[in-house]
Amino acid sequence: MDKDQDRYDKMTYSRCGKSGLLLPKISLGLWHNFAGVDVYENSKDMVLKAFDLGITHFDLANNYGPPPGSAEETFGKILKQELSSYRDQMIITSKAGYLMWPGPYGEWGSRKYLISSCDQSLKRMGLDYVDIFYSHRPDPDTPLEETMMALDQIVRSGKALYAGISNYDPAQSQQAFDILRSLGTPCVVHQPSYSMFNRWVEDGLLDVLGKNGVGSVVFSPLYQGLLTDKYLKGIPEDSRAAKSHGFLQTSQITEEKIEKVKALNSIAQERGQKMSQLALCWVLRDPRVTSVIIGASKVSQIEDAVGILDNLELTSDELDRIEKILKT
Ligand SMILES: NC(=O)c1ccc[n+]([C@@H]2O[C@H](COP(=O)([O-])OP(=O)(O)OC[C@H]3O[C@@H](n4cnc5c(N)ncnc54)[C@H](OP(=O)(O)O)[C@@H]3O)[C@@H](O)[C@H]2O)c1
Repeated sequence: MDKDQDRYDKMTYSRCGKSGLLLPKISLGLWHNFAGVDVYENSKDMVLKAFDLGITHFDLANNYGPPPGSAEETFGKILKQELSSYRDQMIITSKAGYLMWPGPYGEWGSRKYLISSCDQSLKRMGLDYVDIFYSHRPDPDTPLEETMMALDQIVRSGKALYAGISNYDPAQSQQAFDILRSLGTPCVVHQPSYSMFNRWVEDGLLDVLGKNGVGSVVFSPLYQGLLTDKYLKGIPEDSRAAKSHGFLQTSQITEEKIEKVKALNSIAQERGQKMSQLALCWVLRDPRVTSVIIGASKVSQIEDAVGILDNLELTSDELDRIEKILKT
């Protein structure tokens, strides 16, 4: 890899809530395109390019694949082969919550599942610890105290440095923050979805985060690729929507959404940006959003994302025009 010590000058880092942790404005997620079914060289090139551009934060989960677990294996291989001397310069996360193995202990939020899953993730990545370990989703049938005590123990035992939650609604988040604070392991970060086409966090969650001094790293800021110029002329063969294992369903690509993207794309062009770049700037306009976790299938998409940093601010006129398009 490029031993570029200037990488940190290329990125902006923001404090995650009121914690001591600084995160890059752009983070890289390994949900798609880093698995056993993908081309290793491409996955490796994307991780190395991201790191060279100052992206220090890599987001994983136990189940990322297919097959589940293989994204962590790929990342572990890249770390071992290329980045072993950079561990202290990286923030690496994992999560447990979704189905990972058969039987009653392989998903949701029990102490049994979270602690076993964290151990498995560390083995797959060849790590002694992850920087953030998340409860990936709330479990309606396990007491929240049990799930939070498992996170607390994972941190206390040195298997993670910080605790986080993902996909919890505002009320569940407040309860989780209170429990974690009482245990002495304050929650540092929430990971919700957020994009121009998915604004649920504006309905209370961002307020709860702001009030509690908890940061947010938001996922699917491009609505899995729809908020780019990619689908303006149909569904390209190499797109997530065309892949059998991709999570973006063709039914989500509606005529109504494409019309909105076309209108938004004109604003992007006026700003000298790509549609994908405008969508990222828009999500980052709220100071309670610490970082956007992007996905990528090629190196150029990571370069596009980092390219927003010298043109991040949106004018109030641009924000009004965007709002009108989104609300029509
Ligand atoms: N906590 C959770 O429950 C949860 C859930 C989902 C995701 N996540 C995290 O969030 C990360 C990001 O999610 P996501 O992949 O859905 O994010 P996204 O940024 O909304 O979508 C990424 C996809 O958009 C397309 N794209 C990106 N840049 C582009 C560009 N410049 N031009 C055209 N197309 C572009 C690519 O798709 P193509 O393959 O079509 O090129 C890319 O794979 C995941 O990897 C994961 O770490 C967390």
